[in-house]
Amino acid sequence: MNEVKVFCPATIANISCGFDVLGVALDAVGDEMVVRKTKEKGIRITKIEGQDLPMQAEKNVAGVAGLAFLDASEYEGGFEIEINKKIKPGSGIGSSAASSAGAVWAMNHLLGSPFTPTKLVTFAMEGERLASEVAHADNVAPALFGNFTLIRSYTPLDIVPITAPQELYATVIHPQIEVKTSDSRKILRTTISMETAIKQWGNVGGLVAGLLKEDYELIGRSLVDHIVEPIRSILIPGFDQVKQASINAGALGCGISGSGPSIFAFSKGEKTAINIGNEMKRVYETIGIDYDIHVSKINQQGIKIL
Ligand code: HSE
Repeated sequence: MNEVKVFCPATIANISCGFDVLGVALDAVGDEMVVRKTKEKGIRITKIEGQDLPMQAEKNVAGVAGLAFLDASEYEGGFEIEINKKIKPGSGIGSSAASSAGAVWAMNHLLGSPFTPTKLVTFAMEGERLASEVAHADNVAPALFGNFTLIRSYTPLDIVPITAPQELYATVIHPQIEVKTSDSRKILRTTISMETAIKQWGNVGGLVAGLLKEDYELIGRSLVDHIVEPIRSILIPGFDQVKQASINAGALGCGISGSGPSIFAFSKGEKTAINIGNEMKRVYETIGIDYDIHVSKINQQGIKIL
C-alpha cells in the first residue's frame, strides 16, 4: 500500500480538572488527510484545503511531526501529505493535534506499524511544540488512542486509555474568536496552594473513577477546575452564561475545551446534548457572536481509515 486517507478526530483537552493530562476524542468533527509514500526522502505538504497554513514541512505541524517520525525510522523514502482542515486553528478542539497525529498514524500504517501508539504520541507532540511552544500530549493521545486518555506521566510517557461510558455525549460551541494556546498558557500562574491542589486532584481522581464506573453523577461532580478556568475564562466572552445555560439544560458539567475559546459540556444521552447546544447558541445569539457547534458521541477508535 502506497497511500492512505484518514479521519483525524477533534479532541477536548484538560476536561476541566486535568490540565495537560486528560483528553477525549470526538466523532463529529475532524481533519481528513491523504498520506502517500515517495521515493524522495523527507516530507512534502502538497495540498492544504480549508485553511491558510504553511506548506513548508518545517513550519507545518503535520510536517514537523512527520519529520520526527522519519528521524526515528529506518525507512529510506519520504511522504507526501494532503490536508483537508476541517478543524479551525485556535479553536480549542485540537486542530494542530489532529494534523500532527494523523500524519504520523498514516505513515506508521503505510510502513506496517513499526511504532507503538505511545511512540507515535511522542512524534505528534513535536507538532504541538511548534503550535504552542510546549509539547503537551493531552490532545494527540486521545486523537491516536480514541476515547479518553490520562497522561499519568510525561517522563517517561505513560498513557492510560479509558473507555468512555456508552451514553456520554459532548456538546462543543466555538465562538468565532481565536485564542492562541501559547498566549493562553502564558497568563497561567505557575504555582498553586496546597489547598487548591487537594481540591484539584480530588476531582481528577473522581472524574477517572466516574468514567470507569459509568457513574454520570460522579463525572458531573468532578468536572470542576480550580486552577485554569478562573483565569482563562476571562478570555472567553459569555463563558459564565454558556456554562450556566448548559447546566440548566441538564449538562453533567461544562468547561473550557483545551485552551479555548471553545466551551464543552458533557451529558448523558443525545437529546440532552442537543438541548444544551440550543441553549449555548441562544447565549451567543444574544451577545451577537458567531459560532460553530458540534454535538458528538465520544470517538472510540481514534484515527481511522476513510
Ligand atoms: N493542555 C493544553 C492547554 C491543551 O490547555 O494549554 C491545549 O489545547
